[in-house]
Amino acid sequence: MALKYDYFLFDFDGTIADTGEGIRKSVAWCLEQLGKPALDTSVLDRFIGPPLHDSFEKYCGMTQEESERAISVYRRRYTDIGLYESRLYPGIAMLLRALHTGGSWVAIASAKPRFMLEKLAAYYGIDKYLDAIVGIGEGRHSSDKRDLILAALPEGAQPARAVMVGDRLYDIEAARSLGLGSVGADYGYSLPGELADAGADAVFDDVPALAAHLLGGDGPRGLFISMEGSDGCGKSTQIALLRDYLERRGFEVVLTREPGGCPISERVREVILSLDSKGMSSECEALLYAASRVEHVRKVIEPALKCGKIVICDRFLDSSIAYQAYGRELGEDFVRQINAPAVRHAAPQLTLLLELDRAESRRRMAQGAPLDRLEIEKEDFFARVQAGYDALAQAEPGRIRRIDASKSIEAVFDEIAREVERLLAGR
Ligand code: TYD
Repeated sequence: MALKYDYFLFDFDGTIADTGEGIRKSVAWCLEQLGKPALDTSVLDRFIGPPLHDSFEKYCGMTQEESERAISVYRRRYTDIGLYESRLYPGIAMLLRALHTGGSWVAIASAKPRFMLEKLAAYYGIDKYLDAIVGIGEGRHSSDKRDLILAALPEGAQPARAVMVGDRLYDIEAARSLGLGSVGADYGYSLPGELADAGADAVFDDVPALAAHLLGGDGPRGLFISMEGSDGCGKSTQIALLRDYLERRGFEVVLTREPGGCPISERVREVILSLDSKGMSSECEALLYAASRVEHVRKVIEPALKCGKIVICDRFLDSSIAYQAYGRELGEDFVRQINAPAVRHAAPQLTLLLELDRAESRRRMAQGAPLDRLEIEKEDFFARVQAGYDALAQAEPGRIRRIDASKSIEAVFDEIAREVERLLAGR
């Protein structure tokens, strides 16, 4: 769908990231070092966004010379510590990804020093979505927002096809005076009414509303990652590491599992896996997995994807293909058919297949929890399950990525992170 704009410029502090804590603490520390009176938090908040020297002059009564010195003291703490006392606003990473992968120009135009913006963009992994990062320094000393905006646009860009998103009146006023669209991020550090009074075209209280406005429709859809692998392959450990990795990058993550993942499906899980269910027919087993899946997709996976979250699911349809179609020899057609209602709306974009040879898998299982009904199956069953995974991986090498799970936890995770980065970059 064609968007209203081709060029999307974002302020950083208070728009992309909540950098408040680091800035407040570093200003307070700087004033203490200089023997100046302390400021209230509400005044410290005013330092977030505008050029620092303006704020030191306005709120601490400093001369231009004094404010220059204050900035150099401030940076002693901010550059190493304060920079990382920040977090991306929930949903912003997915918005930047959606704009970038959709072919739009995405840039930062901020009065922060450029080297800091670059460090933060790399730290949060959003650098891959940015066509330009414009801040001050490296020959650019003007912190006039209009100069920053102009530098963040590619040559020949029509201002009317560009929009500036920011949380302070400086952003809005500069955008308007250059003929760009202007959108206010009211979740940042604006004062009540500041952005509307400055004449913003639209003002939003949270990132999902902003994203829906910029992208049209419902905002960005999330991403679905499933994890597959033999018993004892270390899936749970890697899933927990992946969640932390993605959350640090500002994504909202939903961790879930199959069979299970929601109350009804967890009850079905008990029926399927219980040793009391010995003798269950293969068809009944396959249908129960499919039943638990359709409920899980409707109640958990689909709603999470709809609001732009990343779903990491411990096993999904591929398990049914490997275990029921191949292991139980029910055939792929039957298993795909009964799972059609579940996967119609939700299919993983990336499946990480953690591979471990059977002897090692058995050794690891022997050290773990008591075995369930599936785990006590005979060796020829597991050989067929493995053949199922091999066939799937061969048929869909782009989606199903094989990971050697015999390596160390760190080495396995490095491989997983590489695959996930490819997905995040939209490659
Ligand atoms: P679980 O304890 O979650 O195993 P793991 O830790 O190995 O993931 O039990 C799930 C079992 O169910 C596992 O042996 C694989 C099997 N299974 C199927 O046979 N078909 C399916 O569709 C799914 C999701 C799982």
